[in-house]
Amino acid sequence: MRPIAQLQSEGAPAGGELRVPRHVAIIMDGNGRWAAKRGLPRVAGHRAGAEAVRTTVRAAAEAGVEVLTLYAFSSENWRRSAEEVSDLTGLMRFYLERELASLEKEGVRLELIGEPEGFGPDLAARLEAAVERTRGNDKITLVMALNYGSRGEMATATRRLAERAKSGEIDPAAIDEGMIAAELQTARWPELDLLIRTSGEVRLSNFLLWQAAYAELIFLDTLWPDFDQAVFADALAQYGRRQRRFGGR
Ligand code: IPE
Ligand code: IPE
Ligand code: MG
Repeated sequence: MRPIAQLQSEGAPAGGELRVPRHVAIIMDGNGRWAAKRGLPRVAGHRAGAEAVRTTVRAAAEAGVEVLTLYAFSSENWRRSAEEVSDLTGLMRFYLERELASLEKEGVRLELIGEPEGFGPDLAARLEAAVERTRGNDKITLVMALNYGSRGEMATATRRLAERAKSGEIDPAAIDEGMIAAELQTARWPELDLLIRTSGEVRLSNFLLWQAAYAELIFLDTLWPDFDQAVFADALAQYGRRQRRFGGR
C-alpha cells in the first residue's frame, strides 16, 4: 500500500501546499447495508466496520491529523433491537481487549465522549481503564463517541452553566460562546475542521452539532466497512482544496 502522504499529495492542488485538518470527525455509517449486500447478518457488517476503524486510525496518524473523533454509537441507537445492541457492545469489548496493546504501541491516546456508563459498569470500567492506560500517548488522539448525542451534550452543558450561575460562581449575563464551548465534552481539543459521513446519507444524526458550525463537510457514498486509506486520502485532499471563509471573504 502506498503511504497516505503520497496519496494525499497526488490529490493536492498543483504546487499547492497540503493543508492537513487538525481535527477530523467521522460518522461511520453503512455497516448494515454492507452486510445486506453480501447476504450476511448485520453483525458481520459491524465486525468489518471495526476493521475499518483500525485502518483509519493508522492512516489519520500517518497523515498528521491530531484528533480523530469517531461516531460509534449514538444516543438514539438504543432504538435498535436488543440483539443488535448486544452485538455492538460485545464487539466493543472484544476490540478493546484486542486493540489496546497496539493503541499503546502506536502512540494512540484514547478518549471518550458521550455517556459510556449507559453500557453498564463493566464495559464502562474497561473503557475508562483503556483511557487511563493510553494517557501518556501523543501521536494521535482517538476520541470514540459512545452513547453520544449532541443535543444531550448541550443540555448537560446548559445545566452545568445554570448551576454555576445559581451558586453565584458566574454571572448569567457573562455567558458567551466560549463558556458554552468550554462546557462541552470536546472542550480540550482543537476546533473541528472536517466532518465526513459515509454511506450516502446526508444528515448529521445528532453528531457534533455545535462543533460543526464551521467544519468542512464531506458526504461519501462509500459504506463504512469499505472506507480505507485511499478513500481517506481522497477526502483529505478534497479538504485541502476547499476554501474556508468563516464568514469573511
Ligand atoms: C453504522 O452502520 C454503525 C452504527 C450506527 C452503530 P449502520 O448499522 O447504521 O448501517 P446501516 O446504516 O444500517 O447500513
Ligand atoms: C449515525 O448512524 C450513528 C453512528 C454512525 C454511530 P445511524 O445509522 O444511527 O443514523 P440514522 O439513523 O441513519 O440517522
Ligand atoms: Mg446507519
